Amino acid sequence: MNLFDVYPLFDITPVRGEGCYLYDDKGTRYLDLYGGHAVISIGHSHPHYIKAISEQLHKLGFYSNSVKIPQQNELAEKLGELSGYNDYSLFLCNSGAEANENALKLASFHNGRKKIIAFQKSFHGRTSLAVAATNDTSIQAPVNQTDDIIFLPLNDEEALHNAFKDGICAVIIEGIQGVGGVNIPTASFLLLLRSLCDKHGASLILDEVQSGYGRSGYFFAHQYAGIKADIISVAKGMGNGFPVGGILISPAFKAKHGLLGTTFGGNYLACAAGIAVLDVIKKEGLIDNAKELGEYFITQLQGINGIKEIRGMGLMIGIELNQPCAAVRSELLNKHKIFTGTSSNKNTLRILPPLVISKQEIDHFLEAFHSSQQAHS
Ligand SMILES: Cc1ncc(COP(=O)(O)O)c(C=O)c1O
Repeated sequence: MNLFDVYPLFDITPVRGEGCYLYDDKGTRYLDLYGGHAVISIGHSHPHYIKAISEQLHKLGFYSNSVKIPQQNELAEKLGELSGYNDYSLFLCNSGAEANENALKLASFHNGRKKIIAFQKSFHGRTSLAVAATNDTSIQAPVNQTDDIIFLPLNDEEALHNAFKDGICAVIIEGIQGVGGVNIPTASFLLLLRSLCDKHGASLILDEVQSGYGRSGYFFAHQYAGIKADIISVAKGMGNGFPVGGILISPAFKAKHGLLGTTFGGNYLACAAGIAVLDVIKKEGLIDNAKELGEYFITQLQGINGIKEIRGMGLMIGIELNQPCAAVRSELLNKHKIFTGTSSNKNTLRILPPLVISKQEIDHFLEAFHSSQQAHS
């Protein structure tokens, strides 16, 4: 049987990882500034993470959500503590799309409405509601297309005022837009969203799948604006590669048996991975590291010619060039052995390193980037 050919692939076969590095089958070392789509938070193959998952596997790998699983409570407690959302509840699932699907469903169950406000250049995943709220018709099948989603330009306060009315069920917005090219909602836009949601009885859903878990230098990116969301979706960095996702739910939402559900969500191994990630983030001060080194990274980039714009917060950085970034990206990979990402904005290079990155590793990138910029601009 062949694989269904939906992914464009680099001709590279990584077989091992350590910290910020990947090693391929020929022993070549690559600096990973992309973390496999922002997934690697605490670094590849962190010893504490390996130990926690292995020990759990030796005890019990799986049972369904029909029994008590204390690891779920431990994960929820630690997540509440580190994020500051102690009074919220956690529902566990397996991916970012699933988290958003559940967030949107929950909002609709809650107020009985179905109109959703989402934003241009958004990405929320590929399941039916999540992809409907994703502003990219090329990944929506006809069955996903609906009139119930209203797309507005990000940070356009006037458009938001004009579109908001009483029938709105929810607003879904990324803490920082990732796939769309690292676009940051302004603090005043987030504050306005919060007040309009309150005024019209709509739920504010913060998609922190990519920008959450410390990447922005805050546990959740939206916290920089001092607002609270009603539902927050998480995945990616939450499991450092183990598939796990979830939603944090405000106490205003009432749980009912059977309202949401999943077979695999919150399984023992996913919880072991999720707890290990939170322990390492806390113990190694990775949120502060993301903040400090993100600032260093952005400051150093400002000295390099040929950049149109740098957008970013913490270790979520978009470097917009004056031309498509494909040539620079492949030179970084093939010549300098550095993985970077791109975005739906073809000129924007997306940098999403593990949060354990050091200054030396950033300097290594800066030198390589500087030299490939000279070659291509
Ligand atoms: C902001 C955001 N939300 C949701 C998703 C979907 O996550 P997953 O691929 O785990 O379904 C992504 C994936 O890139 C994302 O960046």
